[in-house]
Amino acid sequence: MDRQQLGIVIHHSQYVVVGPNPKPPHLPKRHRLRLPPAVHAPPPIAAGTTLDGQTAIITGSNTGLGLEAARQLLRLNLSRLILAVRSRAKGDVAAEVLRHEFPHAQIEVWILDMEDPKSVSAFAVKCDQDLGRIDIVILNAGVQNKDAVVSAKTGNEQTFQVNYLSTVMLATLLLPILKAKAGPAGKPARLTVVTSTTAYFADFDHERPILLQFGADKYDPTKWYAREKLLQMIFVRNLSTLMDPDQVIINTVCPGLVGETEIWRTLNTKIILRYLFSAYFTLFGRSLAEGASTYVHAVVVAGRESHGGF
Ligand SMILES: NC(=O)c1ccc[n+]([C@@H]2O[C@H](COP(=O)([O-])OP(=O)(O)OC[C@H]3O[C@@H](n4cnc5c(N)ncnc54)[C@H](OP(=O)(O)O)[C@@H]3O)[C@@H](O)[C@H]2O)c1
Repeated sequence: MDRQQLGIVIHHSQYVVVGPNPKPPHLPKRHRLRLPPAVHAPPPIAAGTTLDGQTAIITGSNTGLGLEAARQLLRLNLSRLILAVRSRAKGDVAAEVLRHEFPHAQIEVWILDMEDPKSVSAFAVKCDQDLGRIDIVILNAGVQNKDAVVSAKTGNEQTFQVNYLSTVMLATLLLPILKAKAGPAGKPARLTVVTSTTAYFADFDHERPILLQFGADKYDPTKWYAREKLLQMIFVRNLSTLMDPDQVIINTVCPGLVGETEIWRTLNTKIILRYLFSAYFTLFGRSLAEGASTYVHAVVVAGRESHGGF
């Protein structure tokens, strides 16, 4: 299995494309000389775009990119927002801030622990039972740990459980619910999985079953994260083949490198590392707002052409 077989192509602008028969972009010479960091925000959203009447769910939205994406959707007049978080206390704090900024919206905190498959399935059932309409789902919750942590509920390594297993489980459970609860006819619902261009560097032993390698191999934060993000992309690509994009558009997005989030919490614990990370983000990173704007692009602007891709 190599990247070409998987249909993965790096665009020098901002996206990795994973989709059927992607064609490498023809880049003018000057673009080939440019560094490819994702420092540019996606194109602005058309004036007059409104999410009035719509309901969105964002996982891992008490902080970081999820919270900022929530803010940006609310700015577009989103009517109802579900903050899907594992900590009630953190979710309530985030919800209070957003309610203050956007008094027009109905903002709710629902518990979702992506380390616990029972919580994932209970969350999907609640979506089915309690929501009359779902327009947008962003599966953003993610984790990157310096050291291996075993998830108590499953015995799996935590990043593998959260970033891959529970993410694909939730996507699979929500897909038929989304299909049934999309908004007005002719307007597909949206399911976006937050992945990362680090997927491009993923490396597996091609001789052994891929998923079992997460149990057998020694944990390595960068390597495992890249593998999990690549598997997300492959999963979305396959899942998309089961769904008509006129009903639900499924795609993936990478926010680019964003320093102002908590994903680095276990990685930059030493002061020297904090300085190095900070310099790196300043040189190559996006702001939180620019990073989150890629989510909005994925769920509001990108259309049927993005189905199964990025
Ligand atoms: N920052 C970047 O440069 C970057 C680049 C590419 C992709 N991404 C992706 O963007 C997404 C958001 O990351 P971020 O940078 O915004 O990180 P972040 O600030 O750490 O946010 C991650 C969110 O996921 C939640 N989460 C973690 N484990 C969970 C669990 N077991 N159950 C439910 N929620 C859980 C966290 O909740 P708690 O606060 O309770 O821990 C938090 O709300 C991730 O998927 C990440 O892989 C980030």
